[in-house]
Amino acid sequence: EKKYDYLIVGAGLFGSVFAHEMTKRNKKCLVIDKRDHLGGNVYCEEKEGINVHKYGAHIFHTNDKRIWDYVNQFATFNNYVNSPVSLSKGKLYNLPFNMNTFYQLWGTKTPEEAKAVIDKQIEEYGSKSPKNLEEQALSLVGKDIYETLIKEYTEKQWGKKATELPAFIIKRLPVRYTYNNNYFNDKYQGIPEGGYNTIIEGLLEGVETKTGVDFFQDKEHLLSLADNIVYTGKIDEFYEYKYGQLEYRSLRFEHELHDMPNYQGNAVVNYNDSEYAFTRIIEHKHFEFGNQEKTIVTKEYPEQWDRSKEAYYPINNDQNQEIFRQYKKEAEKEDSVIFGGRLAEYRYYDMHQIIASSLNKVQEVLKLEANT
Ligand code: FDA
Repeated sequence: EKKYDYLIVGAGLFGSVFAHEMTKRNKKCLVIDKRDHLGGNVYCEEKEGINVHKYGAHIFHTNDKRIWDYVNQFATFNNYVNSPVSLSKGKLYNLPFNMNTFYQLWGTKTPEEAKAVIDKQIEEYGSKSPKNLEEQALSLVGKDIYETLIKEYTEKQWGKKATELPAFIIKRLPVRYTYNNNYFNDKYQGIPEGGYNTIIEGLLEGVETKTGVDFFQDKEHLLSLADNIVYTGKIDEFYEYKYGQLEYRSLRFEHELHDMPNYQGNAVVNYNDSEYAFTRIIEHKHFEFGNQEKTIVTKEYPEQWDRSKEAYYPINNDQNQEIFRQYKKEAEKEDSVIFGGRLAEYRYYDMHQIIASSLNKVQEVLKLEANT
């Protein structure tokens, strides 16, 4: 008889939801994380009374009432609505692309006028079978929106020319013919009062946790402690990179404390132009309508990734998908290791999707257990 039913590697949302659900069902869980804190990428660091989103801006949004009710067990959500603005060639534009943006671009006042401009530009610059991201974007929204609000931002994000990026990166570019600056279309949206740590603390209440523990540093011992492993780290690392390394895009965050109450008047300001190496500036207090005397802003610089850096965005190309397929096949053969979360599934997931995926995994495991 081993000490734990589950050793959970990674205290992000996937691992924390899994631990919570299993603990509720009287399973013994141990959650470890190699970082010196719990929460994974949703972790917030409090400074000057402000919750700083340490691994990038996190706005909770979902259409799924089940997931909304689930997170509301652990925190009260405020009514923050994400409405970024984008700075381009000295002018500010509302996002997502909507009637305000079109007015700022062309002075058009009605949906009909705006649609006429966009349609004309699509006809003039679009192509039937776009071969790269630039052609794709021109075919979806025309020249002005592309050049003003997409091109340079995207090139900074991926570190490549838009003409060298695959078309499929941009599947759709929604344009909205109403004066509505709400970035998301989801029914539920907000920021947890007290930050995301409140949710993680709620999920992990009564669960044994250890931070500063890297699974690979103490693998044999850790494996001897538990019947099952839930692994939410990088899948290629789990298999010692034997089929090759999966690639990511990384980010570098530069935090600045300013001795003023309000730096930019909005939580998110995008910087489209290539002359700025960062893609956006986040002013954290505005997520929670803070009125502290000082403010903290974060510049987000896209960076090339290597193993010494945080892995943020999977690079979704044929080569990586082929490598991932081999690891996945291997993973499916394991009978006491469960793989889940953004790093083990090599996939970009939003928070609500990760929670749903973890809850589904729990159901799957319980069903299997009931049948044996
Ligand atoms: P997560 O990375 O959080 O957790 C994995 C944990 O495993 C980490 O803590 C890691 O340290 C640990 N670990 C790995 N290897 C280990 C080892 N060997 N030993 C011990 N521990 C190990 N979503 C959304 O809904 N709204 C938003 O606004 C945003 N914004 C956003 C911005 C940016 C820049 C990014 C990159 C992502 C977002 N997201 C988002 C997505 C969100 O961050 C994501 O859905 C969850 O954090 C994923 O949770 P996981 O548990 O899968 O991974």
